[in-house]
Amino acid sequence: MRLLCCLHVLLFLSYKLSAQSPPTNASSSLDSLLQDYSFRAFLRPRTGILYDATAPPNLTGIKLAAMRLRSGSLRRRGVSSLKEFSIPRGVIVKPYVTRLVFVYQNLANFSQFYYPLSGYDYLAPVVALLAYDAKNLSAVNLPELDVTASKDPIKINFSDLERRRGGGSVQCVSFDSRGEASFSDSVGNTCVTVKQGHFSVVVKSVASAPSPAPPPGSEEGKKKEKKSSESSSRTWITVGSVLGGLVLLGLLMLLVLRCRSYKKEEKMREMERAGETGEALRMTQVGETRAPTATTTRTQPVLETEYAA
Ligand SMILES: *[C@@H]1O[C@H](CO)[C@@H](O)[C@H](O)[C@H]1NC(C)=O
Ligand SMILES: *[C@@H]1O[C@H](CO)[C@@H](O)[C@H](O)[C@H]1NC(C)=O
Ligand SMILES: *[C@@H]1O[C@H](CO)[C@@H](O)[C@H](O)[C@H]1NC(C)=O
Ligand SMILES: *[C@@H]1O[C@H](CO)[C@@H](O)[C@H](O)[C@H]1NC(C)=O
Ligand SMILES: *[C@@H]1O[C@H](CO)[C@@H](O)[C@H](O)[C@H]1NC(C)=O
Repeated sequence: MRLLCCLHVLLFLSYKLSAQSPPTNASSSLDSLLQDYSFRAFLRPRTGILYDATAPPNLTGIKLAAMRLRSGSLRRRGVSSLKEFSIPRGVIVKPYVTRLVFVYQNLANFSQFYYPLSGYDYLAPVVALLAYDAKNLSAVNLPELDVTASKDPIKINFSDLERRRGGGSVQCVSFDSRGEASFSDSVGNTCVTVKQGHFSVVVKSVASAPSPAPPPGSEEGKKKEKKSSESSSRTWITVGSVLGGLVLLGLLMLLVLRCRSYKKEEKMREMERAGETGEALRMTQVGETRAPTATTTRTQPVLETEYAA
């Protein structure tokens, strides 16, 4: 009975351990939202035409555009100009779809907010090229298609960069679908990529450690505060779940030890009891009950009902 109780608690604990909340994911939910809004630009879309779309009201400033294409013509011809992007021949999308939509994003003032990079200054807004299946133009929460440039890379031309005092060399930064940043050298303010994603150009911050604090209450100040509180809360969530996991693990081990000692104690008690009666009693099934029997019983115990039968 006790063992059963222990097992129940164990099962409950392991359920608790496995049911942890997933990490928050701001930039990918932004992509989903912007996919929905950019698809709304298509009323009666013609293929190969870039349509400007309207961003959600709470994200004014973000620029969106969308272009529908046949996969075959993308691979054979590419797209010479899609805002900053120029897509060469030989680009393939996976999984295969007959038609796809390229969604273009320009995050403008929201670049720093959604793609914070400490130690770097953005010289241009973050722009994105993402691909989706064009089968259902009112679909939401579509998965991204994998875009691969199999011959020449896709070029991104950041023509008008912000003027910066001093700073090092201009670097390209790209973010994959998990928001992971990677850097490469920029040649003439042009970056290259073989995959879809988010891109910009940056320089190392002049004074990376003591950045001048924006005046309190200003728009930028509020954004910075929000950002840092968000990242610190994320850190706390991570620390919290690790600590919680450790505590639960400790409890689990304690329980296992308790269970073991219970079993041992019970065995001891049984042995003691056996010792008191002088000899080990054997349990025998009699009808529906178990009864102790001595090894040297002459008449086996029989239920009365069996006489009656
Ligand atoms: C903007 O509004 C959409 C709903 O239209 C919401 O899902 C999203 O979280 C909002 N974004 C911000 C930054 O407030
Ligand atoms: C974006 O930033 C520019 C200058 O930094 C400012 O003039 C503009 O009002 C901002 N737009 C939004 C929507 O915050
Ligand atoms: C397209 O997507 C919308 C929204 O998810 C859905 O309501 C609709 O039924 C879909 N249409 C087709 C033809 O799959
Ligand atoms: C980048 O774009 C600008 C303006 O659109 C253009 O003048 C320039 O030639 C382009 N650079 C490259 C390398 O394509
Ligand atoms: C963000 O969400 C996407 C899709 O929902 C997922 O593939 C990705 O792993 C998530 N990233 C993180 C860091 O949780």
